[in-house]
Amino acid sequence: MDNIQPRTVGVCLSPALLPSYNLEESIVVVIDIFRASSSICYGIHNGAEAIIPVLTVEECIKYNSNGFLLAAERNGAVVEGFAIGNSPFSYTEDKVRGKTIVLTTTNGTRSIQLSKRQRAKKILVGSFLNITTLCNWLKSQQQSVVLLCAGWKENFSLEDTLFAGAAVEKLKEEFFIRDDAAHAALDLYKLAKEDIGTYLKKSSHSARLEKLDIEADIEFCLQLDTVDSIPVLADNRLIKLV
Ligand code: MLT
Repeated sequence: MDNIQPRTVGVCLSPALLPSYNLEESIVVVIDIFRASSSICYGIHNGAEAIIPVLTVEECIKYNSNGFLLAAERNGAVVEGFAIGNSPFSYTEDKVRGKTIVLTTTNGTRSIQLSKRQRAKKILVGSFLNITTLCNWLKSQQQSVVLLCAGWKENFSLEDTLFAGAAVEKLKEEFFIRDDAAHAALDLYKLAKEDIGTYLKKSSHSARLEKLDIEADIEFCLQLDTVDSIPVLADNRLIKLV
C-alpha cells in the first residue's frame, strides 16, 4: 500500500491563529504584502547579502555598528532616527547590494520570528513580486505548506489573504487544501483577481499608507513576477534561496 501522505496547503489568516498550527513538518510562507514581504523579496533580489528580521526597535539599534544598514517601521512610518523603513523604494540595487540589513516592522518581521519560535521546518517570504517562482519551488518540494498572513496587529488583512488565495490557486492541482481559510482565500482571490488594485482600495492598510502619502508603494507591491528570487530564513538571517 502507498504510504505517502498528500501534501497540504493551508492558510493561517492571522498570527493570532498560529499557535493552533503544527509547523514542524511544514514550509511556512510569510506574507505581508503592504509592505514587509514585498520589500524583503525586492531587497534580496537586488543583492542584499542578508536581511536580519528582528522583533523590536531596541534590538535593531543594537546592530548599530559594523556596516549594518538599519531599517525600522512602526504603524507604516519610518521610526524616528532611522534612515529607512519598509518602503520597497529603499531596497533598490544601488542602496542594498552587498549590504546586510537589520529590519524591524510592525507585523512582517514579527510573523517571521513567530514562525521560527514555532519551529517551522523552513521559512520563506512571499509576495506578488515573486509569486510564480515561489509556487514553482513549493511544487518541487515534497512538503506541506502553511501560508501565514501577517495581517495588521493580529487582525485579518485583505491584501495578505488575497495573495494567499492567488498562491492556493497556483498550488491547488498538486496540494490538498487543508482548511476552510484556504478555500475562503481562494474564493476572495477569484472575486478580486480581475482588478486587485481597485479591490484593495477598501483595505485598511491602503488607507493607512495613503494617509502617509505613499500610494506608490501600494502600486509597486501589487506588481506580478518582477522578481525571481525567494528569501529563506537561515539561522536568523534571510538570504537568497534561489
Ligand atoms: C508591517 O510589517 O507591519 C508592514 O509591512 C507595515 C508597513 O506597511 O510598513
